[in-house]
Amino acid sequence: MPKTSPVSKAIAATFAVLTVGAIVGIVTMVIFYKVQISTMDPTPRPTFLPTTAAPPPVIRLPTDLIPHRYDLFFQPHLYTKIIQEVNVTSPNQTHLFTGNSTVHFHCVQTTRTIYLHSLDLDVSGPVVMDTDQNRRIHVLGMDNHEDTSNFLQIHLKDHLEAGGNYSLFLDFEGQLSEELVGMYVSTYTEGQPAHEDDTDADRFLVATHLQPGYARRVFPCFDEPEMKAEFYVTIIHRIDTTALGNSERAESNIIDEDWKYTRFHPTPTMSTYLLAFTVSEFTPVVSTNGRVSIRTYARPEATAKGHAKYAANITSTVLTFYEKKFEINYPQRTLDQIALPDMGPAAMENWGLITYEQGALLFEDGVSSALHKEWIVTIIAHELAHQWFGNLVTMKWWNDVWLNEGFASYMTYYSVDHAEPSFKMMDATVLSDLHVAFESDALTTSHPLSPPQEEVQQMDQIEQMFDSLTYTKGPFVLRMLADIVNERAFNKAINKYLSDFSYKNTDQDDLWDYMQKAVDEDGGHTNVAKVMDTWTKQNGYPVITINTTTGEIYQRHFLFNDTSESSQWWHIPIRVMSNGSQSDFVWLDTSDTVKKEEFVSKKGEWILANVNCFGYYRVNYNPENWERLFTQLEKDPQRIPLMNRGQLIDDAFNLARAKLVNVTLALNSTRFLFHETDYLPWESAVRNLQYFVLMFDRTEVYGPMQAYLREKVGGLYNHFQNLTDLSEVPEVHSEQHNQITAINVACSNGLPECVAMATKMYANWMESNSTNMIHPNLRSKIYCHAMAAGGKEEWEFAWNKFQTTSDTSEKDQLRKALACTKKIWLLNRYLEYTLDPEKIRLMDVAPTILYIAENVAGQALAWNFIRAHWDYVSKAHASALIMGVTSRFSTQFELEELERFSRDYSVDSESRAVQQAMEQTQVNIQWLSENKDAVLEWFERQTASKSG
Ligand SMILES: *[C@@H]1O[C@H](CO)[C@@H](O)[C@H](O)[C@H]1NC(C)=O
Ligand SMILES: *[C@@H]1O[C@H](CO)[C@@H](O)[C@H](O)[C@H]1NC(C)=O
Ligand SMILES: *[C@@H]1O[C@H](CO)[C@@H](O)[C@H](O)[C@H]1NC(C)=O
Ligand SMILES: *[C@@H]1O[C@H](CO)[C@@H](O)[C@H](O)[C@H]1NC(C)=O
Ligand SMILES: *[C@@H]1O[C@H](CO)[C@@H](O)[C@H](O)[C@H]1NC(C)=O
Ligand SMILES: [Zn+2]
Repeated sequence: MPKTSPVSKAIAATFAVLTVGAIVGIVTMVIFYKVQISTMDPTPRPTFLPTTAAPPPVIRLPTDLIPHRYDLFFQPHLYTKIIQEVNVTSPNQTHLFTGNSTVHFHCVQTTRTIYLHSLDLDVSGPVVMDTDQNRRIHVLGMDNHEDTSNFLQIHLKDHLEAGGNYSLFLDFEGQLSEELVGMYVSTYTEGQPAHEDDTDADRFLVATHLQPGYARRVFPCFDEPEMKAEFYVTIIHRIDTTALGNSERAESNIIDEDWKYTRFHPTPTMSTYLLAFTVSEFTPVVSTNGRVSIRTYARPEATAKGHAKYAANITSTVLTFYEKKFEINYPQRTLDQIALPDMGPAAMENWGLITYEQGALLFEDGVSSALHKEWIVTIIAHELAHQWFGNLVTMKWWNDVWLNEGFASYMTYYSVDHAEPSFKMMDATVLSDLHVAFESDALTTSHPLSPPQEEVQQMDQIEQMFDSLTYTKGPFVLRMLADIVNERAFNKAINKYLSDFSYKNTDQDDLWDYMQKAVDEDGGHTNVAKVMDTWTKQNGYPVITINTTTGEIYQRHFLFNDTSESSQWWHIPIRVMSNGSQSDFVWLDTSDTVKKEEFVSKKGEWILANVNCFGYYRVNYNPENWERLFTQLEKDPQRIPLMNRGQLIDDAFNLARAKLVNVTLALNSTRFLFHETDYLPWESAVRNLQYFVLMFDRTEVYGPMQAYLREKVGGLYNHFQNLTDLSEVPEVHSEQHNQITAINVACSNGLPECVAMATKMYANWMESNSTNMIHPNLRSKIYCHAMAAGGKEEWEFAWNKFQTTSDTSEKDQLRKALACTKKIWLLNRYLEYTLDPEKIRLMDVAPTILYIAENVAGQALAWNFIRAHWDYVSKAHASALIMGVTSRFSTQFELEELERFSRDYSVDSESRAVQQAMEQTQVNIQWLSENKDAVLEWFERQTASKSG
């Protein structure tokens, strides 16, 4: 999976990072406990367990039976449309699906019990065969332990012998889920409904999402990633629909006037969570990379309008890039992708049938933001990388899911740079991954990238592994490793690793082994496992402190909460440069203070450590060196590498947050912005000041702070000359991002010309009512600031547009902008709308509430609202919701409310989010009490000295 859809405005500023922890809340299911006992067999079930049986396993499957092939039939009975015809009785919609499965397995240890997974399925008719002797083995009975293990336990009359081959047949039926997991139903409309009650335009489709443990809801199976098998799939589907599967279609034939079937070639040997199929009326755009036929499916309307063309085209480029880079061909002849109207995560890498939330795949010229292409190419690149990292080579168990996600995101840096070189996204993407990781990894509640298996057993523990840390620290740690062992050796090791473990499973030690071999061959001395385990098996990260007077340097665990004691230390690779000298490479591998020549400032020049941000750590200096760096920035910023210009601000602010430097040192790091027109430093400053906005926008500090920012942003705002005619934007993507930043900072701090501009552009649009002259890049900000400055009329115009437009990116921009109004009653109305799936789709509920909570006028409303409607709103993205809505919390009273919330609501699977929110609130309370006065004084002094 990739990171989830955009949930935070601050982060959406760089499209590349769009997510924040929402993945954890994929969907929380209410599990109904039920036990089914088949009475197929005339022999009564024994009241005792066979004496040879080992005690039943608790969570993990026993390893005595190893599956290698499934023959699967699925028949979803859903109608994709129900057209009302005069004098004809329309059928009732149904969510029933039926099917049967035959799993072939090898027995490695004698047993009389078969354990496999099955959940919410009505399972019957078991037939167990000894396939070596073509002999049926009597089934005594079945138990379904749906509560925690989800085991289907099948008691046999005779033993399965070690070394023998067997098969198990089962019939099953179930209901399509409406909660975006397992086999689920998704809805959309095709064309315009004739009137409000017209249901003829409604369409339905069947899709699947099985990661991490939902295959068991679709068919009985050995649902663990190491239990790889080939899947022979046949789908029986309505005659007017198309069925897609993981592999190439083998045959498709009509059964009768209602049904046809589609049989697929066997899949590659793969894990159960990668199985996928869809049944829909969707139509494809076809592209190819020569050998592989690539079909990108979308709603017929969207396909006809060409919205899938960009995705189809770029997929081919990216696929070819990976095949060359990894020196292993994509092993199938077809690669299908589908843009689904409803989807939990933003996309899922199912082998040969990648599913996307439609906003992640569809691009409409003239309507979508030019920057939306970044999101599309990034997600596609991530999912395609998984075809190797994850699908071909899979982690042994979910504790190492960072191997999947880390590599998918890491490879994305390179493939996007190759496919869209003009976007120049690498630096920005790397830094934004770093910042997302740094943020959550500085809390004591963070977790190691690779925790012990025992800590990742229950389904909620597994789902929590798919958090923003895995997605952002993972690729960053790999980038650091590539720098340590050097990129050539790294790539060589990776290719060998992929080829040796094809169709198999690995843990991180396998990766270290392959890296070590490459290092040894290269004549290097690094002990890869020893170094890397400090980064993957421990949580958090270090800050190194350098005294450039003496060259003394030491490391500490960096935590926002300075009362936490930690004795952790890391093997830290440091690239260091100074005003006078080029970059050097030094190790810090002790928890003691050491002196190193490289860190001594010779003639009063500055020293810069972690050049180009290869290391996953922060850097602190003695105040003199900080000041020298700031002076350099004000004089000639180009002397300092671009990534470091962004990172110095980020380090300064976060060190202040952790009370390692004065808050005024952090604020001083923004002084040079008056002259800065590059994107990364601005992005860094805006993101970090976002915390100040959250902490102060309900206080008297906010006025002077806005005045200061108005003054700093003036230059940048004017830098974009065309601001009176917003129909065009700069060529380069980082400039485009920066233009958005300029408008956002200027308008939200009340720069009069900006607010007037937004209001006027929006009024022009309302007047003309159709032609929208605002460039798609800028729409979301212009809409938002016009909405904030306006009232009912502006809001209702946008709401009306939101409901009538069929364009997904315009819809997203409007949905976001609607949350910007300052009118409480409109915000309340908007919150109520999120309860109605006809108005706001379930997958958009949490992001919409988060937009409202970001607005200072909506924050308290949103907090009350989610508590009043927790059952409904927590169905998707629950963790992100808790973290987001409470992000301003900074008083004792608010902390108590959070405590009450965690007591009064059953928030088990979100418990880590609640803990994090409480910890964050405590940090905020403390921070405010210590810094508010100094910050107020600093801002007042800055603005007074200017106006005076
Ligand atoms: C519907 O049935 C009625 C009565 O059987 C008949 O009079 C009418 O013509 C039919 N309408 C259509 C459109 O077939
Ligand atoms: C649809 O369901 C209703 C209520 O359950 C039932 O009365 C009706 O006969 C059904 N219609 C069809 C076509 O099955
Ligand atoms: C499984 O289902 C398919 C489709 O309904 C059917 O053709 C096949 O006979 C079934 N298999 C068994 C063993 O019953
Ligand atoms: C993608 O688009 C480019 C430029 O429009 C074109 O040259 C290329 O052939 C396209 N590739 C595919 C696979 O459609
Ligand atoms: C750096 O070292 C010098 C010389 O020992 C000392 O005077 C100074 O206080 C140190 N600075 C910091 C920030 O520790
Ligand atoms: Zn992924």
